[in-house]
Amino acid sequence: MEKTRWYKDMVFYQIWPRSFKDADADGMGDLWGVYEKLDYLQSLGVDGIWFSPLYPSPGADCGYDIADYMDIAPEFGGMEAFKKVLDGAHARGMKLIMDLVVNHTSDEHAWFQKSRRRIEPYTDYYIWRPARPDGKLPNNWDSCFEGKAWQFDELRGEYYLHIFAVKQPDLNMDNPLVREEVKKILRFWLDLGVDGFREDVITYISKKEGLPNDYLFPMNKGMLHYNHGPHIHEYLHEFKRDVLDHYDCMTLAEAPLVSPKRALKYIAEDETGQMDMMIQFQSQCADCLFTDYLPMKFSLRRFKRAFSSWQKKLRGRAWNMLYLENHDHPRVVSRYGSEKFWKQSAKTLAASYLFLQGTPFVYQGQELGMLNWRPEDPELYEDVQTRWQYAHAALNRSPEQRLHRLWRASRDSARTPMQWTDGEHAGFSTASPWFSVNENYKAINARQQEQDPDSILNFYRRAIALRKRLRAVRDGEYREFFPLSGRLYCYSRELPGQKLLVLCAYSEKPQKLRVPAGFDLSRAELVLQNYAVLQPGVLQPYETRVYLWED
Ligand code: GLC
Repeated sequence: MEKTRWYKDMVFYQIWPRSFKDADADGMGDLWGVYEKLDYLQSLGVDGIWFSPLYPSPGADCGYDIADYMDIAPEFGGMEAFKKVLDGAHARGMKLIMDLVVNHTSDEHAWFQKSRRRIEPYTDYYIWRPARPDGKLPNNWDSCFEGKAWQFDELRGEYYLHIFAVKQPDLNMDNPLVREEVKKILRFWLDLGVDGFREDVITYISKKEGLPNDYLFPMNKGMLHYNHGPHIHEYLHEFKRDVLDHYDCMTLAEAPLVSPKRALKYIAEDETGQMDMMIQFQSQCADCLFTDYLPMKFSLRRFKRAFSSWQKKLRGRAWNMLYLENHDHPRVVSRYGSEKFWKQSAKTLAASYLFLQGTPFVYQGQELGMLNWRPEDPELYEDVQTRWQYAHAALNRSPEQRLHRLWRASRDSARTPMQWTDGEHAGFSTASPWFSVNENYKAINARQQEQDPDSILNFYRRAIALRKRLRAVRDGEYREFFPLSGRLYCYSRELPGQKLLVLCAYSEKPQKLRVPAGFDLSRAELVLQNYAVLQPGVLQPYETRVYLWED
């Protein structure tokens, strides 16, 4: 089937279902709630939805631990609600993609339950190893979430590998039967009408033969031997050849620690590519090393370097996936912007990425400038990774410092319920929500922003509408100016006959307006701005402007 690459003209919205909207009053977000909000999404200019996992799951990792790949969890409304949302989205011209999590399953999945009992053909569905004669674990790999990557199973009398939580055993993708299962899952959802997949840590699915010790990585030991493993491209080609090529669908690869050069091996737009776009983490590392682990001061230069390098290196060869936020990272205004200049910095961040080449993704609440959640009580955190880190890391620090670490780095900072109104539970639910609502909801909520023409929400609407109107945003050449500036992100997008200049200030102090040579502002149209009144020759704190030249 010919691929039309429809996603190139689109803007996606990520729904993390537990916290989006509860319509059946049980305190947990659900698909009936999504159905109610489809018009809201359309009004934002969104053309597609990525759903974080909706499948039945014990919830050890908020749904990324799947117990049944071919159903929708009852708490989200089951298949009935899903089909309603799918039809409702398609009726509005919107696409819908699912989260495919096949590096691991839940330990409550029937395959695992049979595998631990050595019931065929499931015996080798997972990665089992006997204890070593010296009593040590099978190798020195770490789990990304909870201590070491091996768990002993009494029933089977062996260890199983879990790169994530103990309740997330890794599948053995070297087993052809497991790959057939993956294909069945892909076909099942595509035949039901979904438009593609975001593939969770897909670069981890092929582990190096013999599972050797990893002596290189200082943390997340093992990554050397399972990220971009030996058969990864072979397996992805197989999924493509046997299933994905037969549908006009889109695939998005989540890929920790990947450079643009490596990305091309996965997503080049020629016959060598196996997927369509890639979620890179380099732009998430502007305030930390290895994403959330080692905090540093935000560096605009690192942020710009990441975006510029992906823009330049993928151009004409592959397509970028653009994002600032998702369910795995704290809120971007709190991290990269300024809560003091909340409104302005949320808009500057939006303009920084919405005019780049690629398909932008907006994470729920980002369009409202939602901020990090900062509870006083560490026990309120739910996330498995956060809870483990709190119990085991930085124990020599003061309780206050430890709490601040959570505020700054926890994934839960961005998982609080959507703030729809200033009413009870922020309009998310009429019941007590499954998770705390950020207490700032009276000031930050969708209803208030609907009414304010100058709101962050309305800025997103304008920016998205503008990007869709301008050919240069989709196809134009990218040029970055003043790359060494730590206070200004300035780039252009240029096509014959249409040229765009984007200026984004990152400073709480005013700065001199710098205009790159060859751009005559007096002949341009100012098509987007976040200050009503401009000051001549000056960019105000977190000011952003987008200028357009058209012949
Ligand atoms: C991905 C998901 C994350 C999940 C992990 C394990 O990184 O985005 O939320 O915890 O994989 O599935």
